[in-house]
Amino acid sequence: MSVKKLKVGLCVLLVVIIVKLNHDSRSLAPTLLQGLTLPLGLGLRRTTRRGGGILTIHSGCRMSKWVYPSSPKVEKYGCKVHPTPGPDISQLLYIPSQLEENDTVFVPLTEVERFVNDMLDGLSTNIVVISGNWMDVEPPSNTAIYKLLTNPHVLKWFAQNLPKYGGANPFHPKIAPFPYGLLEAGTNPIFPAYKEILFGNIQNGSNKTNFIFAGPLGKHGNGKRTSIPQRELMRPRDYFLQMSKSTYVLSPDGDRPECYRHYEAIGLGTVPITELDPFFFRHLGSSGSNGPVIFGNKIWNLTVLENELDPNPFVKRSMIWEDYWMDWVDDVVGFRLHWNTFESGNGLTDFENSLLVLLD
Ligand SMILES: *[C@@H]1O[C@H](CO)[C@@H](O)[C@H](O)[C@H]1NC(C)=O
Ligand SMILES: *[C@@H]1O[C@H](CO)[C@@H](O)[C@H](O)[C@H]1NC(C)=O
Ligand SMILES: *[C@@H]1O[C@H](CO)[C@@H](O)[C@H](O)[C@H]1NC(C)=O
Ligand SMILES: *[C@@H]1O[C@H](CO)[C@@H](O)[C@H](O)[C@H]1NC(C)=O
Repeated sequence: MSVKKLKVGLCVLLVVIIVKLNHDSRSLAPTLLQGLTLPLGLGLRRTTRRGGGILTIHSGCRMSKWVYPSSPKVEKYGCKVHPTPGPDISQLLYIPSQLEENDTVFVPLTEVERFVNDMLDGLSTNIVVISGNWMDVEPPSNTAIYKLLTNPHVLKWFAQNLPKYGGANPFHPKIAPFPYGLLEAGTNPIFPAYKEILFGNIQNGSNKTNFIFAGPLGKHGNGKRTSIPQRELMRPRDYFLQMSKSTYVLSPDGDRPECYRHYEAIGLGTVPITELDPFFFRHLGSSGSNGPVIFGNKIWNLTVLENELDPNPFVKRSMIWEDYWMDWVDDVVGFRLHWNTFESGNGLTDFENSLLVLLD
């Protein structure tokens, strides 16, 4: 793994370094069918409405009907996953006339400027733009964001990490947040380990035997993490297993506020205790509700937290599912948009996809 890759990741990054996989991991196959009455074999129903997968840093690219830029460099912007063949990606956008009414277009945060300059004036249909980036890149200029938002054909702009990328007025009515997602990167063992624990957990049910998990933290956070309880590095599988057994997990900001850990936790039915602003990250729930996220936390003393937190919070685990977010974006916009209709998100099996449907 390159040094550069290490820098892009966010808050759980140090577990990545331990690439030696835990070889005692049991095969899922023998237990897959345990206790489940799923429509297997002939007549297997389409497992998701659109056939999506697990929400990762590549989901914006995969879900949107179009991806800009239109060059082979798309891969560089985090749309594609190694090793190839990776999951399908959306169609590449070359010229504005390719677009139809109500289409979704993924424009990486690094490309917003170019999209605004080269494509915006040519728009003749109403579209929704979605922007994000795996890496901690520079934000688009306020001028570009202003032009994007004031173009009548841009119905809405969804962007990750609004405090950093939302421009001069991140409260603008056309701006909405967009989720970050899990790490999914080629041969990195994190995603396979996560899937193993996630699917095992869906089948066996969750058994929360620990209240708050203070796991290993990377070196992000500008030194403020020294006051946050944490433990030594763990192997990915052990880490996710411990997370799945915990009701809450300490989940401070990464290099940006959003980080993999928030989503890893939600998928495992664990509430992340975050520093997130409840408005800029409103896609994760409204403040004051019982999860799935604790917003704006400033207390990291476990004793104090234990006394204050709801012992039985509800976690909307389906937020780990790409389909959830397509529906969510549709709801924010107010009608159904056109998405990519791929059927192999994250390369999940039909059975794994049918397990995702079971999530609350
Ligand atoms: C776009 O959405 C509007 C609002 O729901 C709808 O009236 C229109 O038929 C849609 N057009 C297409 C091509 O999907
Ligand atoms: C389910 O729980 C049983 C009993 O603890 C365990 O042996 C099995 O490996 C678990 N299955 C999965 C898929 O995690
Ligand atoms: C949950 O885990 C505890 C401790 O490992 C165990 O005693 C208990 O039987 C488990 N409950 C369920 C419902 O699996
Ligand atoms: C955490 O809070 C408790 C109760 O207020 C206090 O007794 C304890 O010293 C605190 N622990 C740390 C590490 O600050």
